[in-house]
Amino acid sequence: MIPDTELITLRDGRSIRLGPVEPDHAGSYRTYMIELADESPWTGTLSHEVKDEESQRERFEKIRGHPTQWVMGAFDPQSNQIVADCSWDSIDYDKFRHVASLGIGILEPWRGVGLGRILMERGIQAARESTIVQKVELGVISDNQIARALYESLGFGVEGIRKRAVKQPSGEYCDDVVMGLWVGSD
Ligand SMILES: CC(C)(COP(=O)(O)OP(=O)(O)OC[C@H]1O[C@@H](n2cnc3c(N)ncnc32)[C@H](O)[C@@H]1OP(=O)(O)O)[C@@H](O)C(=O)NCCC(=O)NCCS
Repeated sequence: MIPDTELITLRDGRSIRLGPVEPDHAGSYRTYMIELADESPWTGTLSHEVKDEESQRERFEKIRGHPTQWVMGAFDPQSNQIVADCSWDSIDYDKFRHVASLGIGILEPWRGVGLGRILMERGIQAARESTIVQKVELGVISDNQIARALYESLGFGVEGIRKRAVKQPSGEYCDDVVMGLWVGSD
């Protein structure tokens, strides 16, 4: 059992534990990121670009209690390993601090059973509760229909298309769709 976590039941009956990603999870997080990058063409990072454990630890130390950074992990209750995450942060400039940039990923065995929607809802809720963040933005590769359907169903709108902004290792270019959701009160 990991402190500050919540056990929830997914659509297929499996349990998953949700909670903050702490500095001590740096190794597990790195393993998860490498696995995700190796099996999904939709991530922005290739596996050899995933930062080392110490850098991950520093990131999670910084996120703790930070007003414009948020992260939630999903932990397999059997192994306590991270199998999914959702996070957002905004850049440290006065004119842009109200805009948080969100990312989400789930390992293949845990997809399609409602976890993505739950993590997105938690991320949006955390942004709504923030006194600083008023908008959540994300980028999604145009062919990623599953992710796009999820974001649209949560109220995200398309704000632009960055043509050929992504180059896959195969050499194929993809468009990056910029989507946004206003979460502020005005
Ligand atoms: C995109 C991703 C986060 C979605 O999470 P998920 O847990 O698989 O999605 P959920 O089971 O919560 O389903 C959410 C919605 O996605 C869509 N969806 C999910 N699986 C689908 C499938 N097999 N076919 C079509 N649509 C699907 C549906 O609109 C679904 O809506 P519903 O809740 O009404 O059923 C996840 O698939 C993933 O991590 N993929 C690889 C990495 C990635 O694409 N990251 C996002 C980069 S922008």
